[in-house]
Amino acid sequence: MRVINTNKEMSRACREAVKPVGLVPTMGALHSGHLSLIDQARADNLTAVVSIFVNPTQFGDPKDLEKYPRDMEGDLDLLRHHGVDLVYAPAPEEVYPEGFDTWVDVGSLADKLEGIHRPGHFRGVATVVSKLFNVMLPNRAYFGQKDGQQTALIQKLARDLDMGVEVVVMPTIRESDGLAMSSRNVQLSPEQRQAAPVVHRALCQSHLLWIQGERDGDTLRDAARTVLQSESKVESIDYVSVAGMLTLDELERVDGRAMVSTAVQMGAVRLIDNIVLE
Ligand code: PAF
Repeated sequence: MRVINTNKEMSRACREAVKPVGLVPTMGALHSGHLSLIDQARADNLTAVVSIFVNPTQFGDPKDLEKYPRDMEGDLDLLRHHGVDLVYAPAPEEVYPEGFDTWVDVGSLADKLEGIHRPGHFRGVATVVSKLFNVMLPNRAYFGQKDGQQTALIQKLARDLDMGVEVVVMPTIRESDGLAMSSRNVQLSPEQRQAAPVVHRALCQSHLLWIQGERDGDTLRDAARTVLQSESKVESIDYVSVAGMLTLDELERVDGRAMVSTAVQMGAVRLIDNIVLE
């Protein structure tokens, strides 16, 4: 496994790699969710590439960026065991050199849900993902459904800008109690960790009603909200959404594919999760 830190060397390594190349973009602190993406990239492609870069431009709060979990040595060990060929681990100055001032703006998909609560977040995500795609020119790129809005937005970005990358979305990987795996889960206190599966339970409640035939958007949103409100460790609910998969517009009635999603604050940690109704 080669670990590369510069754009130039990474571009060359990817050009010379046996195709197809599958890329898994990450911010490190890897968990089983990432590993499922990596295993799929390994299975689908002849070269598996992982990027590890805690992207400063997608963080609004510098303190949040500073405390984001990092474990480069542990990550590299995991990647070696999972048969990864190339790892791209650039420094921030390599990705954003002095004078950097070109941004990728993804339009209306970025202004909803997470976009309302994290202004500028998706501009940072779209910009860094575009840069990673440009450096590595992967045939496929793998993302987790856990970040449902991010996956919708990256699929649109790749389509709108004719990037020639197949964006593969993989199911959310959960702990045995339903909590969606996330690098941020280590920041939960033991009590918060115990309470955190309420987020998944809330989404499941809405899903259950939908399976039973309920199609009214407000009823499905209220069902999830009621479960979240029953847990005192949930300090605030940023949103409960039932939205169309492609537009992320809130639905009055669910007739096609839809995503129930939520974001809540538990202590210092913001938990997001979603379930697809299909
Ligand atoms: O999902 C993430 O870890 C990040 O948003 C990504 C896609 C690696 C871009 O920094």
